[in-house]
Amino acid sequence: MGSALPERVLTNHELAEMVDTSHEWIHSRTGIEARRIAAEGEFTSHLAERAARAALDHAGREARDVDLIVLATATPDNTFPSTAVEVQSRLGIERGAAFDLHAVCSGFVYALSTADALIAQGLAERALVIGAETFSRILDWTDRTTCVLFGDGAGAVVLERAGGAAGASPRGVLASSLRSNGTHKDKLYVDGGPSSTQTVGHLRMRGQEVFRFAVSATVDVVETVFAKAGVTADDVAWFVPHQANKRIIDASAKKLGIAPEKVVLTVQHHGNTSAASIPLALAEASSDGRIKEGDLVLLEAMGGGFTWGASLVRW
Ligand code: ACO
Repeated sequence: MGSALPERVLTNHELAEMVDTSHEWIHSRTGIEARRIAAEGEFTSHLAERAARAALDHAGREARDVDLIVLATATPDNTFPSTAVEVQSRLGIERGAAFDLHAVCSGFVYALSTADALIAQGLAERALVIGAETFSRILDWTDRTTCVLFGDGAGAVVLERAGGAAGASPRGVLASSLRSNGTHKDKLYVDGGPSSTQTVGHLRMRGQEVFRFAVSATVDVVETVFAKAGVTADDVAWFVPHQANKRIIDASAKKLGIAPEKVVLTVQHHGNTSAASIPLALAEASSDGRIKEGDLVLLEAMGGGFTWGASLVRW
């Protein structure tokens, strides 16, 4: 695991001087107290590279050992080439494959499932799975209904093929479920792009509709992965959901029957960092000793599209 955050902390109190809002409004509706904002000249690839280097160090692996990079982002440095090849080049890797994956806030779960499937199919041996975003660059900083919610950051994991001793309980990704439904595409989107407007655009959202969908989507994919793996909510040691909003997380955990003390929460410090939020939360909870080897960890996310998904991981 590894993670990276920009230095600049933007608090709710500072935001209240920029738009008509207050710390109390933001905190009571979302749980967010502060978020990080990338510095001028600090790009998604820079955060991704730092997170990737930290993950490689933590895993005791060299960049040259990596033959796959799957980088989830909705805020790439450029339209192309992918931010993944930018990171690949900075890490000095010239073999294997690297590509970006675009599933907005569900990006990390999609990327982890994709890398897991490619390794299982024999297309790769060792992957860097990265979620990295600079959402501050696509926010309308005059729109109080969206600019208070998001932040910048990156997280990464190293995922590799492992044999495992006969009879040992399997580690790694045990089960995943990925979903999308494009009929909801107008509820959370960016109003620009290379083919449509030739601009980057700004994030637009119908917040209440996203909120309503989020909890039922979570329950849908989580129950699917529980059934696939033959486990129940009682077996879960840690629930590491996408960090969009504390109220969505609390309601989802309650509906799933997961106790509040098993929920990893970082939204208060990071805001919603889209594809980066799950690996940022995983890095925090593994480095502070909460998540231990053998723990069953449930990952879940929902985002623009709508897309949603869950993975069950034996640490
Ligand atoms: N500060 C003060 N007032 C605000 C702000 C703000 N930052 N934003 C909106 N308001 C006002 C609105 O204008 C409205 O005022 P009005 O009644 O005079 O029209 C009032 O607050 C209530 O607005 P609602 O949108 O009804 O507020 P709600 O309680 O639904 O909270 C929120 C809004 C926090 C966005 C909520 O709907 C939500 O969390 N939705 C989920 C969206 C989300 O988390 N998206 C993240 C991306 S998706 C994902 O990652 C899953």
